[in-house]
Amino acid sequence: AAAEKGGYPSFMEKEINDQPDAVAQTLLGRSDAQGKLILDELRIDETILRSVDKIVVLACGTSAYAGQVAKYAIEHWCRIPTEVELSHEFRYRDPIVNEKTLVVAISQSGETMDTLMAVRYAREQGAKVVAICNTNGSTIPRESDAVLYTHAGPEIAVASTKAFLAQITAAYLLGLYLAQLRGNKFGDEIADVMADLADMPAKIQSILDNADKVKKLARDMSNAKSVLFLGRHVGFPVAMEGALKLKELAYIHAEGFAAGELKHGPIALIEDGQPVVVVVPSPNGRDSLHAKVVSNIQEIRARGAVTIVIAEEGDTSVEAYAEHVFYVPKTPTLLAPLLTTVPLQIFACELASAKGYDVDQPRNLAKSVTVE
Ligand code: G6P
Repeated sequence: AAAEKGGYPSFMEKEINDQPDAVAQTLLGRSDAQGKLILDELRIDETILRSVDKIVVLACGTSAYAGQVAKYAIEHWCRIPTEVELSHEFRYRDPIVNEKTLVVAISQSGETMDTLMAVRYAREQGAKVVAICNTNGSTIPRESDAVLYTHAGPEIAVASTKAFLAQITAAYLLGLYLAQLRGNKFGDEIADVMADLADMPAKIQSILDNADKVKKLARDMSNAKSVLFLGRHVGFPVAMEGALKLKELAYIHAEGFAAGELKHGPIALIEDGQPVVVVVPSPNGRDSLHAKVVSNIQEIRARGAVTIVIAEEGDTSVEAYAEHVFYVPKTPTLLAPLLTTVPLQIFACELASAKGYDVDQPRNLAKSVTVE
């Protein structure tokens, strides 16, 4: 078993460290030298893909957070209204799905019963379904119209890490492909994003190579009773995924909030010593989101929060307001989740290990939930 873990103490640590490769493998062979996407596996009639007027992303757990990241990217690149829904909520509410709906079902295992039932329901309503899946030949891809495989390799640890980054990568490819097909973006722009994506494995590697500080903090915080996570835009699903990892692995109460929502309720939770992890958007992004999140940090700090900040390299503006800062390499805003997630995974894994928990097999959880 030690060999299977590639020298790491757990599958989870191995899988976190596999992430540069998981992303690289998922990108491999899916574009040409000019950055034009080639998704031959997307075997759905192009006229249908051109006439899609709504995308519905269906998934559970970590895969649903990948879906939320996908929504920001797909709507921005394709201008197709995109909803994300938990599979088990979707089919019980009489959703509006028809021949013009493209459903994207995201599942690492391809066996999650809730997602499978949602896929069946959507197809009965006439929707086309593309699966984003990590397991060859599993049920969800077999029952979908097309599949875009994530090539993360087998994921053994129950809580998902490398599959999540691969799912986000595959969702970007799907969004860019639809934009290319529907002529929403000029070739250059798509090629630029593809070039940025090609840089991601090395950037993820640099986070992994500099993880000592985040590991030390995790060990120092092993007595924490509750940790809050804040993010905005694509940082919001990243915050929720960071909180989910901490619940799953370390059994610590954790919640992810949209930073803008803080003032509408969650700020009441802030008291002296409350740890809050804040995913700060790039200062180079649009819409002054950076300034807004920085002011959220000031607000919670004034109320006693201990702030742990994930920020972009060079963003020294946050240092005055943070107890701890972890930097990730510069990257365009929409692609940032491939980086900002990584320190949060390492944090949860290291904290759980410090508490002596089995990070590969957390209590009460199953790798794939094949009952509704
Ligand atoms: C289970 C796992 C989670 C996973 C979720 C969805 O709850 O413990 O880690 O995110 O199922 O699984 P899927 O295979 O559909 O992505």
